[in-house]
Amino acid sequence: MSKAYEIIDHEFDCVVVGAGGSGLRAAVGMVEAGLNVACVSKVYPTRSHTVAAQGGINAALGNMNDDDWRYHMYDTVKGSDWLGDQDAIEYMTKNAPAAVYELEHYGVPFSRTEAGKVYQRAFGGQSVSYGKGQAYRTCAAADRTGHTILHTLFQQALKNKVRFFNEYFALDLLMDDEEGACRGLMAYCLEDGSIHRFRAHQTVLATGGYGRVYHSATSAHTCTGDGNAMVLRAGLPLQDMEFVQFHPTGIFGAGCLITEGARGEGGYLTNAEGERFMERYAPTAKDLASRDVVARAMTIEVNEGRGCGSDKSWIELHLEHLDPKVLHQRLPGISETARIFAGVDVTKEPIPVIPTCHYNMGGIPTNHLTEVVAPKNGDADAVVPGLMAVGEAGCPSVHGANRLGGNSLIDLVVFGRAAAHRATETVVAGAPHKPLPEDAGEAAVARLDQTRHATGDSKTGAIRSEMQRTMQRYASVFRDGPTLEAGCKRLGEVTSMLDDLQVNDRSMVWNSDLVEAMELQNLMAQAVATVHSANYRTESRGAHAREDFPDRDDDQWLKHSLIWVDGGFAADVDERPVHAATLTNEVEPIAPQKRVY
Ligand code: FUM
Repeated sequence: MSKAYEIIDHEFDCVVVGAGGSGLRAAVGMVEAGLNVACVSKVYPTRSHTVAAQGGINAALGNMNDDDWRYHMYDTVKGSDWLGDQDAIEYMTKNAPAAVYELEHYGVPFSRTEAGKVYQRAFGGQSVSYGKGQAYRTCAAADRTGHTILHTLFQQALKNKVRFFNEYFALDLLMDDEEGACRGLMAYCLEDGSIHRFRAHQTVLATGGYGRVYHSATSAHTCTGDGNAMVLRAGLPLQDMEFVQFHPTGIFGAGCLITEGARGEGGYLTNAEGERFMERYAPTAKDLASRDVVARAMTIEVNEGRGCGSDKSWIELHLEHLDPKVLHQRLPGISETARIFAGVDVTKEPIPVIPTCHYNMGGIPTNHLTEVVAPKNGDADAVVPGLMAVGEAGCPSVHGANRLGGNSLIDLVVFGRAAAHRATETVVAGAPHKPLPEDAGEAAVARLDQTRHATGDSKTGAIRSEMQRTMQRYASVFRDGPTLEAGCKRLGEVTSMLDDLQVNDRSMVWNSDLVEAMELQNLMAQAVATVHSANYRTESRGAHAREDFPDRDDDQWLKHSLIWVDGGFAADVDERPVHAATLTNEVEPIAPQKRVY
């Protein structure tokens, strides 16, 4: 180990990386079960991106109409365009009501019905009776649902004495190559510049998505998929990285989210001709069709010259016909966001919106118990001992090719809880740690050191902009072979710009120049994974819309993609079967059908 860096060692039963909804829920459950748990987060927990989730959390509570978790499961499988693993989807939808009641009892201040029950609103792609009518399944705290959940879980974590390491940037996993097991991780403390080695029997990656590979994203600037990149550097694959969700209603220009709940409360979209065009694309569900369907329809309208504004470049979202009381009670947050970022008074004028990168369906492959899996000796589902992944970082895969709105927050808490249960089964509190390989952590520190002393001519911001522009241009809502080929080539050039990286701040204390450079290294690996996976899958499914292969091809492609990206950004793609069987006989598997709304 470099003498220049003193290492501070820690031992815990479990270490959770990330303090958003899934990480906090996992940590709380582990401590409740008597385990000694550290939570390592690069931001103060209440700044985690869960805070930005607006519209709600799905669970078949049936407070507004008759509902059943099996309807929720059906909608989720259909929404996933049958790429979702049905065992994991059964697990999530069946456990969703208990997870929401648990949040209620923890103290989440949900909006209420007249009868005092948790308020539930309509969201896209959700039905009752297996596609026969609109469901009202999305439990909401006005349009600040994620904010209330994050703060409540943080309070629970403090009450339970989770040991927080806030503003620590995770560098890399500690892998025991002989056993193919994870033994913890290395991290850099921003506050004082110290380097830390955390040993753990289970390391849980709850590091969120990587939306910032795109120029226009609803994601926070911190959404750089650090856990995903750590997994790639550990020589493990990511799954289904071609599936990127574009939320239909990001504010044009600013990219800020306007919740789907706005359409759930009665809002609608029009083109430059004032036409409610969704009636043509989704005659039944209209503006509440699944997200990928609405995003594609909006893109077609703009591409065919029916966009609004002098450049014909956006679509209008109307809320001005709604009762101001509804806007005030149910949509106060987006009313404010529209005023600040679009200069629009939603009681009087429409909001200019455009599909904007919002969510990554792909990520670290796991089973429904949240254990990370990677192919080994012919077993596609072999568990990587000591490593778990939850939340947007994990891919169990409950969202398949397209996630339903409101299924992200429920994924966080159901699988955060599942990780805690599984850790309780696999970890003996206080058990001694296995010896670490002699060079454990050296590569992570060497990479930090090399980045810190980078003396090239290209600043992080300039390289990052080039990467984001490349992704926006070559891997957006619609794709085709030549564009993706060109995207792979261009991204190859952009990755080589990292050889010319310039980092000016050589200090170790709060070196944001260094952290942004390492975040860019993380983003770049995932940009490569996304474009190469998209080029590999020659069909259209969910959010992956190929103009040269417009149909879903279940014979060839009803399978997950796996991708490895090495240190030189070379990509290698393989496949893994979809779990089409359910977990129990409480529900029948849902066979692939044509997906219409
Ligand atoms: O539109 C929204 O409120 C976003 C919700 C989600 O992505 O689940």
